[in-house]
Amino acid sequence: MKRVSIAIDGPAGAGKSSVAKILARRMGYTYLDTGAMYRAVTWESLRRGITEEKDIVDMAEHLSMTVAPGEERMRVFLGGEEVTDHLRTAEVSAAVSRVSAIPEVRTIMVALQRKLAAEGGTVLDGRDIGTVVLPNADVKIFLTASPRTRALRRYKELGGEKAGLSVDEIEEDIRKRDLLDSTRAASPLVPAADAVHLDNSEMTLEETAEAIMKICREKAGDEA
Ligand code: CDP
Ligand code: CDP
Repeated sequence: MKRVSIAIDGPAGAGKSSVAKILARRMGYTYLDTGAMYRAVTWESLRRGITEEKDIVDMAEHLSMTVAPGEERMRVFLGGEEVTDHLRTAEVSAAVSRVSAIPEVRTIMVALQRKLAAEGGTVLDGRDIGTVVLPNADVKIFLTASPRTRALRRYKELGGEKAGLSVDEIEEDIRKRDLLDSTRAASPLVPAADAVHLDNSEMTLEETAEAIMKICREKAGDEA
């Protein structure tokens, strides 16, 4: 079967990275988590206490970011130091949309993402994969679920009551981030014109992955 490139875009908690990982494993593809890359830039700016946009851009230009496949998540390294475990904290989640809205930061990240995806056989997930990073991707999915469903998923993922955040608080963060991501000037979160829309509020991860694989098989069959 032809090795296609798969772009999965959508809002926070839609299931993009979980599904992308399943697809990559089953199809023997490489998974690229572009959100983790924006999170790494954000983490580094917080760590260094950099807040001015121009200073964040200057920092991003000089960052040496590399990635590697991991058991649970894609691993991210800055200057050789692994930062993977710092990327999903509430602090980074709250700051990432501001950093990812900076056009120069996006230009740097998109160039790196295209380089990493150049050989094909890749699954990328993010916000602008089908529209900007890989406008010629063979399969484009716009994955969504209701805000409540997405907040409940994140709540569970963070360990329920132990997380110290209520479902309402998580939903509030998710809605804020969705709004910032969809209304920013640079590469906002919008479905590509040729994306297949998939609402998986009522679907398991397994069913979602299966639905996307069916689309990939049809696509590969068409072009075989
Ligand atoms: O997993 P979750 O959906 O919560 O977030 P993520 O995929 O790790 O992305 C974190 C943030 O990075 C998003 O809220 C966007 O602000 C930004 N992002 C982006 O702008 N473009 C991408 N291709 C991926 C992420
Ligand atoms: O990457 P994104 O933010 O779109 O979502 P994710 O991190 O892949 O998924 C958020 C959480 O929802 C994870 O704990 C998934 O296991 C869960 N999930 C689910 O239970 N059922 C689905 N159909 C999709 C995601």
